[in-house]
Parts: sequence; structure tokens; C-alpha cells
Amino acid sequence: MRDSDYDIKHPRKKFQKTERVPPKGYHCSNDFFEDMFMDKDMIWMGQNTNHLHGDIIADAMASCVKKKEYCKYPPPEGFSELKQLILDDLGFKDLDVLLNAGATESLYLCMQALLEKEDNVILSDPGYFIIGDFANRFAGEVRYVSIYNEKYNYKLTPELVRQNMDENTRMIILIDPLNPLGSCYTEDELKEFAQMAIENNMYLLHDITYRDFSRKHFLVENYAPGQTLTIYSFSKIFGMAGLRMGGVVASKPLVDVLKNAVVNDLGVNIVAQYGAMAGLKTKSEWIDDIKETTFHNQKLIKEMIDKIDGAFLPVYPSDANMMVIDLYGTGINPKDMSNYLIKKEIFTREGEYTSELFGDRYLRVSFSIPTKDVEKFCEEFPKAVEALRTN
Ligand SMILES: Cc1ncc(COP(=O)(O)O)c(C=O)c1O
Repeated sequence: MRDSDYDIKHPRKKFQKTERVPPKGYHCSNDFFEDMFMDKDMIWMGQNTNHLHGDIIADAMASCVKKKEYCKYPPPEGFSELKQLILDDLGFKDLDVLLNAGATESLYLCMQALLEKEDNVILSDPGYFIIGDFANRFAGEVRYVSIYNEKYNYKLTPELVRQNMDENTRMIILIDPLNPLGSCYTEDELKEFAQMAIENNMYLLHDITYRDFSRKHFLVENYAPGQTLTIYSFSKIFGMAGLRMGGVVASKPLVDVLKNAVVNDLGVNIVAQYGAMAGLKTKSEWIDDIKETTFHNQKLIKEMIDKIDGAFLPVYPSDANMMVIDLYGTGINPKDMSNYLIKKEIFTREGEYTSELFGDRYLRVSFSIPTKDVEKFCEEFPKAVEALRTN
């Protein structure tokens, strides 16, 4: 039964979403993002996207478009060849893949299909808050665990999880490498999380969106089989963010449960699937170059930041294509910094997008972009600090 004063023209918001204040001069964030997008000279360091690809993926998609393959619906659960390529990429056997419109949709489906009101889930702060927002819709509580501290190596530790869990904890969310910091889990840490999950009947949601930028990466599915959800994205290393392709890899019984929650029942973007297959088949041809440039770029940023009083990189090297620049010691508000840089045609992200607790301390920058653009950032950033500095 609805309340008698239920207003059908102004219904209450059924779900909570982390509120973000739009940047100055904008009444909503979408207008801001659209302005950024439309400015073709803008240097793109604000979304952890990858701008370093040649034509292999683009050509495969162009050929699909030219042949007008997109007139047909794709098979509803995706091309089996693509699903097999994903499993091969991860070295998994006997698991299933559910393709979605981005890792984002996969994350939503996992929360919707597996969480109940009496459950709580554990997520780090800083972290990727869309995951927490989704969990909030279905679980009773999201426990944000503060990890912005050298003593935790800027990541969720098994000890922190132990301190924050109880008998209702149903899911531990491991973003690995972590957006925004670029910290990554060791094999021993993952084994410990796996043990905890097995002993306490919990799911491990392993978001590996940035896996391929890391120096060394491990998959927790190998230690907690059957209760891990591995979240896979084509947005970052494959450079396909605008195509909205991703998926979840898990045991067949888990994927079966997720399938029942699917919204996009007629399948995911066929052009993107062709691009994804071409990307996976040729990965060994391009990945080293992309990783090398990305790594070189972060080194340039590190050398520049080392010369700035009051600024530092909490995690270096980052195992992702992004990292955090802590500005607290300069007295500069990260929002002022990102607004200043936008005027110089450099799009970065202030901390509040990835942290409630520490968002006023840092700026997030991503750097899988051409090195000349990172050089421009390295020229402009010290000038920005001098212009804005209060400490
Ligand atoms: C940790 C994490 N997971 C998932 C996503 C979204 O991925 P997709 O573009 O595949 O929806 C992002 C995007 O930035 C992310 O940082």
C-alpha cells in the first residue's frame, strides 16, 4: 500500500545516489560532461580512459558497420567466440560469461541478483562509488571502510575487512587495481580474502577493470571458486569506453542467477562485440606499447610532483592508468585545481568523485593518453599550484 499523500507527479526517490554538486556555472553534471566532450582540444585525464590505440579495433567495428550487421539483433547472450576469448584472456576454464553494456551493468546485476535487505557489503573509501550506490539499492547497508592511509598501503586489507564484517556481511568488493589510487592486491592478500569468504559464506566481487595496466595481477576466482564475481570491462585497456561493453565472469550457477535479472534481454551492442573480439585476438600486438607509454607518462608526473612542496603521490607506481595527487599540504582545494586546469584545456577529476572522507585532499589524473599531452599537464600543473597555493 502506498501512503495516502503519495504524489504521482512528484514521486519520492526510491533509491539513494551519491549526490554530486555540479561544477560552478553548471546546473547539472550532464551539461558539464557534454561541454568537456564537445571541446575536442580538451586533454582527457578525468575518466581513466585510454587514448593510445591504433586502428585494429576501430577497423573491425567499421567493417561491421559497413556490412550493416547492426540491422540484426546479436545472439542475446553474446557471441560465443567473444565469451571464449574473455575466458582465455583470464585463463579460466569451466566458467561462464555474461556480457553487458559495460562493467557498470554487470555490477548492477550482481547486486540486484545476489543481495538481500538483511545483508551488508564492504567497500573501500576511496573507491568507485557507483558500486556502493548499486549495493545500497538492494542490501541493508554498505560499509565504507577508510583506507586512505599509508599503514594500509591505500587499500582494503584483510584485517580491515575482519574489523568491519559481521554475520550479515554478504559481499566484499575488491576493486583491483583500485580506482582512484592505483593500488593492487598481492596474491597472498587475495588468498586471505578468499579464505575469509569461504569460511564466512561471502561473495567476493573482484572488479578487474584496470587489470591490464598492472605490473602483476592475480585473480581471486582461482582461490574462492564458485563465490567470486569477476567484473570485466572493455572501457580501459581496450579503449572502448564509449561503446559500453563489459561483462561478469563467474561459475555457471552464479551466472544463471544473474541471467534471470538481465534487463538488456536482446543482447549487447553488436558493433562493440566485433571491436572486442578484434581487440582480444590481437592483444599481444598492442598491449606492451600501451603499457609502456602509460608507465612512462606516470613517471613524468611523478618527477613533476616531486618538485612541488606540499603535494605528493600516495601510491607510486600506480598499477592502473590513473593515480591520486594529494594536495592537502598545499592548501589547494582539488575542485579549484580541476576548475583551473579546465581553463587550460586539461580535464581531471577532484577527489569527491571517489571519496566522501578524503575528497577534499586529492585530484585524480589518468594518463593513458599521448605523452605530449602529459607533458602539457606537467607544464601547467606547477603554474596552477603557484596561482592557487594558500600554504
Ligand atoms: C572500478 C571501475 N569499475 C567499473 C567501471 C565502469 O566500467 P564500464 O565502462 O565497463 O561500465 C569503472 C569506470 O571508471 C571503474 O572505475
